[in-house]
Amino acid sequence: MDLLKQRIQADGLILNNSLLKVDSFLNQQIDPELMMKIAEEFVSRFQGEKITKILTIEASGIAASVMTGLILRVPVIFARKRKPKVTGDDVYTANVYSYTKGESNNIIISRQFLQADDRVLIIDDFLANGEAAAGLANIVEQAKAKVVGIGIVIEKSFQPGAQKLAAAGYRVESLARIKSFANGQVNFL
Ligand code: G4P
Ligand code: NA
Ligand code: NA
Repeated sequence: MDLLKQRIQADGLILNNSLLKVDSFLNQQIDPELMMKIAEEFVSRFQGEKITKILTIEASGIAASVMTGLILRVPVIFARKRKPKVTGDDVYTANVYSYTKGESNNIIISRQFLQADDRVLIIDDFLANGEAAAGLANIVEQAKAKVVGIGIVIEKSFQPGAQKLAAAGYRVESLARIKSFANGQVNFL
């Protein structure tokens, strides 16, 4: 997606040769027009999949997910990283280890929001090691629902997530695929 790649080139900052800081349009300030274009691209790539729900994880996956849900007129669910006080015990959980943060979290979704006949599109902002997406897919499968695919805004293709998810049989569609960070530059595949 050229518009997204241009925005990454223009506004992205590379930290420690491994992290891309995109706080000005994705991770803190959000550009709604760009998010809508991203959503349109997801809708186009997963056309014909009869998606019934979008599933993401708080916080940064929510913006692109809501826009996608708006176009498709389907509900958007986001997994919690901590159990909210008002959430009961009727939940699905999956353990997600974050290499970036060096800690593991139980991600949580109330069972009432996923049914066996759901066709779920998983969306997230970044794909690095694939742990978050794999945890979300695991929860969809606990609900006996179907993962129709995984839509990612920015894939760091030099990390193993995309390959791991593809090897597990999931269709991964990433709108920007980063091959490397070299000499302070973002190089796309
Ligand atoms: P994984 O799910 O693919 O295994 O990723 P990992 O645990 O390594 O990532 C942990 C957090 O760091 C995630 O956000 C992920 O989106 C983010 N992340 C990974 N690589 C980058 C990067 O290069 N740039 C930025 N900006 N973020 C990256 P999170 O902790 O869940 O936070 P949020 O969704 O609340 O933003
Ligand atoms: Na995320
Ligand atoms: Na993130």
